[in-house]
Amino acid sequence: MEEVIKIEGKHKLNGTVRISGSKNATVALIPAAILANGPVTICGVPSISDVDSLSVLLRDLGVIVDKRSFDSLVIDPTEMKNKPLVHDAVNKLRASYYFMGALLGKYGHVEIRMPGGCYLGPRPIDLHLKGFESLGATVTYDHGCYILDAPELVGNKIFLDIASVGATINIMMAAVHAKGKTVIENAAKEPEIIDVATLLNKMGAKIRGAGTNMISIEGVDQLNGCFHEIIPDRIEAATYIVMAAAAADEVVIENIIPHHLESLLSKLDEIGVDMEIGIDRICIRGSLDNLKSTDIMTLPYPGFATDIQQPLTALLTQAQGQSIVTETIYTERFKHCQELAKMGAKINVMIPSSMINGPTPLFGADVTATDLRCGACLVIAGLIADGVTTIRNIYHIERGYEHIDEKLTSLGAKIWRETIEN
Ligand code: EPU
Repeated sequence: MEEVIKIEGKHKLNGTVRISGSKNATVALIPAAILANGPVTICGVPSISDVDSLSVLLRDLGVIVDKRSFDSLVIDPTEMKNKPLVHDAVNKLRASYYFMGALLGKYGHVEIRMPGGCYLGPRPIDLHLKGFESLGATVTYDHGCYILDAPELVGNKIFLDIASVGATINIMMAAVHAKGKTVIENAAKEPEIIDVATLLNKMGAKIRGAGTNMISIEGVDQLNGCFHEIIPDRIEAATYIVMAAAAADEVVIENIIPHHLESLLSKLDEIGVDMEIGIDRICIRGSLDNLKSTDIMTLPYPGFATDIQQPLTALLTQAQGQSIVTETIYTERFKHCQELAKMGAKINVMIPSSMINGPTPLFGADVTATDLRCGACLVIAGLIADGVTTIRNIYHIERGYEHIDEKLTSLGAKIWRETIEN
């Protein structure tokens, strides 16, 4: 038996939807909180299964995790114990690797099994480990477990060969207690990195330059509890913007930072989407008539986000002519194309690109969310399609989209869950 999401397409969306706190910031902020000596209150925490998995890991370490209201979490690491993180929950998400940086920073010792997460092609963590080693840690890998040891962490200059989001955040967390100054060069610039640096600075860290390609961290002895509100999720916002372009009469998406979405908004403008951009909201008047095809190349922020190319591909099936999406971050991130093909899309994949030929009518089919953003892409396709679409493996969607079925129902979509035979 399996729970699936079903969508009856062609019902126009209308109304307002509120974007939740950023998933990719949250999954780093939660491990970062254990660096404090007292309780950290994080507000705007999305209700997603990645947060549940991280909470399981925190409790495994003896951290008190208290959900105070629908979206705030108090994390109290006062009584925590550093023990090996071998719980199954480590394997449920990629971001469990942030416990490496946080535990190394706090205790100088970490044992953790290999992190999991969406399969998007190879996802090495060599740059994280290179960073830890530059700070003085030794890294060993034994029976599926990483063991990091550093009697003392000492600040250093670290050049990242690739501007990796995860490595930048992980090194920042390990370096907050290192002796002296650490400089990360070719650091990633994603807004989630600024959010983590903001939390750490509120706790008492001395991090400068987050959001630029050079971050400096002056080690401090102690970090304290604090209050922090998470930035809105730019990928969830992008997903609803594309959904609205594909299936709305008029939808307002609120609690967004338009600046974080510039690469998407300029593409949508080029495609011909009718948008009205406010300070913290955007109004989309959807129409599939006369959408123009476009070419996209995914790049690190502020370039076009890899996480958005999959949802946008569903819309591009409705554009006139051929669109080409080229992936430079995860060259195998095209599993959604074979699922879209089951719904009538005409897409050729020649890694690292997909060629989307439109417009093609989509029809409801039995499809599988192979990863989180593939799931978002299939929801959009289901809203456009004629008939009923069944989406399987919805645990991927639940990892990153808070109450997606409720949010869409409130906009007038016909979307529901059903338990079916496998
Ligand atoms: N890379 C290496 N070595 C490393 C680290 C990364 O070669 O040690 C490579 C990766 O293989 C990839 C590139 O560098 O080709 C960039 O990877 P990055 O480390 O920036 O990705 P990440 O931190 O593992 C985060 C997001 C992803 C998002 C990417 C790129 C989180 C938890 N995940 O992953 O989000 O796609 O940055 O922006 O923040 C998603 O939300 O669906 C998702 C997959």
